[in-house]
Amino acid sequence: MQPIHAPFPSTRLRRTRATPALRALVRENSLSAGDLIWPIFVRKGEGIEEAIPSMPGVTRRSVDKVADAARMAADLGIGAICVFPYTGPEDRTEDCAGAWDAGNPANRAIAAIRQAVPDMAIMSDVALDTYNINGHDGFVENGEIVNDRTVEALVKMALSQAGAGADIIGPSDMMDGRIGAIRAALEGAGHSNVTILSYAAKYASAFYGPFRDAVGASGALTGDKKTYQMDPANSDEALRLVARDLSEGADMVMVKPGLPYLDICRRVKDTFGAPTFAYQVSGEYAMIKAAAQNGWIDEERVMIESLMAFKRAGCDGVLTYFAPEAARLLKG
Ligand code: PBG
Repeated sequence: MQPIHAPFPSTRLRRTRATPALRALVRENSLSAGDLIWPIFVRKGEGIEEAIPSMPGVTRRSVDKVADAARMAADLGIGAICVFPYTGPEDRTEDCAGAWDAGNPANRAIAAIRQAVPDMAIMSDVALDTYNINGHDGFVENGEIVNDRTVEALVKMALSQAGAGADIIGPSDMMDGRIGAIRAALEGAGHSNVTILSYAAKYASAFYGPFRDAVGASGALTGDKKTYQMDPANSDEALRLVARDLSEGADMVMVKPGLPYLDICRRVKDTFGAPTFAYQVSGEYAMIKAAAQNGWIDEERVMIESLMAFKRAGCDGVLTYFAPEAARLLKG
C-alpha cells in the first residue's frame, strides 16, 4: 500500500478522544466498587469509633460498630472487607496467644460481619505483629525472627479466622512455608473452600508508617522487618515468591505497597495470570489525603486515577482505605 503523503497526519490518535462517547467506547480498563477490598480496624471495648490521626477519615471501631460498617459497604457494592485488629500495649504478649483466640476482636468482627451481611467476602490478616510485644510479624528469639515456630502459630491463627467465618485468609507475614502449612491445615479442618490471598511480594517499605499507628505497633516495633520483607530493589525475587506461594496453594496473590510497585503488579500478572491484587497502603493513602487537605491536589480525581492505575497494571482488585469514598463516587 502507498504511504499517505498528505498535508495531514496519517494517524490522528486524538480522534477517538474527541467526545465522551468515543472515549468510553475505546476505554481499555474499568474500575468498579466490586474491585475494592476495604481494610477496617477493629478493637476491644464498646461504642468506640476513634480517629487515626495519620490516616484522615479512617477510624478504629469496637466490634459492636462493625456490622453497620459492613452493611454500608454492602450497599456500596464493595467487593470485600479486610479486618485488622488494633491491640494496645497492655494486651501484647511475647507468646502472641491472642492471635488465635477465637474470641479476639478480629474474630468477633469477622463473625459479626458474616452475620450482618452473609454474602460479604471477608478477608483476615495472618501475622503476629498486631499481638506481639515487639511488633514483629514472627516470634523473636535472641533478636532473630524465627521462621518455623512462627508458621505453627500462623496456622492456628488462620484456623481461628476460618472458624469465625473468614472466606479469604490473608497471610501478610512473609515467613517461608506458611502458605503450604495453612492450606494443609484448612483442608484438614474441613475448610477446603476457604481461599488464601497471599501477600506474596511484600516489601520492607517505609509506606506502612500510618498503619503501624492504626494497629498500635508503632511504639512496639523494635528494629525493622528487612529479614523477612523484601528489598525494594528486587523484582525477579517477587516472581519467585509468587511462583512458590501459588505452588503451595495460594488462590490469589498480592503485591504491596501499590503505586510505587506497579511494575511488579504487571510482571506478576503477565507471568502467572493468577488473580492479582495490590495494597494501596496507609502511607500512600496518607500522602494523597495530606496533599488534598492542603489544597494541592484534587482528592477525588487523584483517588480514582490512582485506583484505575492498578487495573491498568493488571490487578484484579485493590485493597484501599479509599474503598467507601471511591465506591460512592463510582456509584454517583
Ligand atoms: C503487618 C502488616 C502491615 C500492613 C499490613 N499488614 C505492616 C507491616 O508489615 O509492618 C501495612 C498496611 C498499610 O500500611 O496500610 N502484618
